[in-house]
Amino acid sequence: MAEASQIYFNPWDPEFRANPYPHYAALHGGPPSKLVFGPVTLALIGRYADATAVLRDHERFSSVGPPPPPEAYQGRFLGARNMLGSDPPRHSRLRRLVSRDFTPRRIRELEPHIRQIASDLLDQAEARGEFDLMADFANVLPVKVIAHMLGVPPELNATFKKWSDILIEGGNNVPGQPPPPQVIAAVDEIGEYFTTEIERRRKTPGADLVSALIAAHDEGEVLSSADLLSFVTLLLVAGNETTTNLIGNGMLALGRNPEQFAKLKRAPELLPSAIEEMLRYDGPVQSTARFPKAAVEVGGTEIPAGAITLVVIAAANRDPAQFKDPERFDIARHPNDHLAFGEGIHFCIGAPLARMEAAVAFESMLARFPRLDLKDPAFKPAYKGSYFLRGLGSLPMAIN
Ligand code: HEM
Repeated sequence: MAEASQIYFNPWDPEFRANPYPHYAALHGGPPSKLVFGPVTLALIGRYADATAVLRDHERFSSVGPPPPPEAYQGRFLGARNMLGSDPPRHSRLRRLVSRDFTPRRIRELEPHIRQIASDLLDQAEARGEFDLMADFANVLPVKVIAHMLGVPPELNATFKKWSDILIEGGNNVPGQPPPPQVIAAVDEIGEYFTTEIERRRKTPGADLVSALIAAHDEGEVLSSADLLSFVTLLLVAGNETTTNLIGNGMLALGRNPEQFAKLKRAPELLPSAIEEMLRYDGPVQSTARFPKAAVEVGGTEIPAGAITLVVIAAANRDPAQFKDPERFDIARHPNDHLAFGEGIHFCIGAPLARMEAAVAFESMLARFPRLDLKDPAFKPAYKGSYFLRGLGSLPMAIN
């Protein structure tokens, strides 16, 4: 068993957040470790086999966490639970409400729109002669796509992005501390915006996801107003920051592995497999939590009921027992059964959309800027967001 003393796991440490991977190696060496902080037990699941077993076992591992701590600010979201934080049968009902909007076919219909957004953003970068991948492209494309799906007018995209960023940064709040004022303001602003929008679309429905959810709600589904808000906010946050970070982390991996970048430029048909490797090697979602309904054993470790069971997806994706040479970024890796989109009943509903956005993004960038490369090969990235959603603050690129 990996000794708890060998494990360093501190999502609030900026150094840890900047590069958690060396710390994950200790999680591969033996059964899951338990860290005990007073009344709270944290079990760290870092081996691939254990991680898949936990994620597939929704009977024993609940996605419903403890109630938010008293210091958390919930505003109009009070008492809400979205599908990510629900178990069956509620989870199945909630998921069904949006699943038809995320089928590969529906996503393919969005492709021309996504290509147009990418092309417009690259026009602007080309005209400026400068290209920061994050500010000028990766931060903008996914929020425009999800806002379009939610029927939000384009002039509000920047506000949406700001809200989403603040909520994610809120994840860095140390337990027991009151939330920063900007988090409270963002919770209130999102709550007010969507409450008004829900009323408006109830009167005049559109062809968007919010209208579809209202219709389901009015047909007797289980959604309270707070649930509806939480649903829309989940789509807003899950649908933009993750994809932004796939594009950013993926480009950094290419830039740091010039032979792989050159290979992709020579053989663009490798792009789908390169995207899977970006997801495995430095995925946007580092960990997700489950809560055992009763005491349970995982890979030789007894985990008490209710313990925070952290499935460290990004560690499992580098487990040498599953992936040959896991520290190597190999765009032709095969097989590549990574867990970046999760596993089991909560498997990411947006995976087809994220894959398509990333494919359009890299194809468009490489077609427009064939010599695209990191501006500074020794670039030292600064990470933003929270430990759970890993992404770059900026990534300056050379385009000529
Ligand atoms: C590269 C991009 C993305 C990554 C890496 C990612 C990752 C994940 C992961 C790991 C989960 C499972 C979490 C768990 O089991 O606890 C998940 C669930 C989810 N994702 Fe994504 N996601 C991405 C993009 C998207 C997009 C574009 C959307 C929507 C537009 C989306 C919406 C959701 C939703 C609604 C769930 C909850 C599903 C459920 O509980 O059944 N995601 N995602």
